[in-house]
Amino acid sequence: MKKAVVTGGTHGMGLAIVRELLARGAEVVLTGRNERNIEEARTALKGEAAHVVRSDAGSMADIAALGDFVGEKLGSVDHLFINHGMARFTELADVTEQEWDRHFAVNTKGSFFTVQRLAPLLNEGGSVVFTTVANDVVFPGLSAYSASKEAMRAFAHVLAVELLPKKIRVNSVAPGYIKTPTMGVADLSEEQRREFERQGDESTPLRRIGTVEEVAKAALFLAEDATFSTNVELAVDGGFAQGLGH
Ligand SMILES: NC(=O)c1ccc[n+]([C@@H]2O[C@H](COP(=O)([O-])OP(=O)(O)OC[C@H]3O[C@@H](n4cnc5c(N)ncnc54)[C@H](OP(=O)(O)O)[C@@H]3O)[C@@H](O)[C@H]2O)c1
Repeated sequence: MKKAVVTGGTHGMGLAIVRELLARGAEVVLTGRNERNIEEARTALKGEAAHVVRSDAGSMADIAALGDFVGEKLGSVDHLFINHGMARFTELADVTEQEWDRHFAVNTKGSFFTVQRLAPLLNEGGSVVFTTVANDVVFPGLSAYSASKEAMRAFAHVLAVELLPKKIRVNSVAPGYIKTPTMGVADLSEEQRREFERQGDESTPLRRIGTVEEVAKAALFLAEDATFSTNVELAVDGGFAQGLGH
């Protein structure tokens, strides 16, 4: 039985990755921060080989505790999915130091130190899959978020080299507009979320936004099937960042 960890697995793309792993017979530890979403995930996954843990990726103490939990529950890990993320629309003039730091604490520092804590548990031949974001895409109001994901992209390349001795492959999925409960942005009103979806349908070359299942399949492909690929970033964006025009 394969063993996997999915950070930010309680809803959206992360939950779709968890479901795909379970369908393939894996045992999964998944994390989230929001208590209500954690309870909903626990209910949805009841009876499955899934362990839902509250773990704030922005907290070093929580990352250490997650490592202990994974060590006790799974013993070792075949596939690690670093999928958690947070984004908040804030225009230049309104970005506070706290807002900037939170994006980097969760998306960048949290991702890096989660890999660091879990790397000793990763089996030889295992894999890490990061969820980044469509390349070269510019959204006004997402400067801190974009910077935090670019930093993750940068260290993913270095980790791909550093984990070579254990034959651990490090790859990323780069989603474009994907229909998730939040559309990847916290605190959007229902109306703003629908408008964001509409923009996605209009500006994506394939003329629709993607599904969480499409991202999950790509992530699982990188983790399990792409056994001769490392340091690859696979776009799942309907052509959005592929020079096909917006
Ligand atoms: N949706 C899109 O169109 C889109 C596009 C490009 C990239 N992305 C990226 O794709 C990933 C998944 O996005 P999504 O739209 O499915 O969901 P999301 O709303 O961005 O949340 C993803 C997951 O991260 C968890 N999370 C948020 N903050 C956390 C923290 N501090 N500690 C631990 N977990 C935390 C969430 O759990 P709780 O909310 O329960 O805490 C949730 O399970 C994210 O990395 C996002 O940046 C999304």
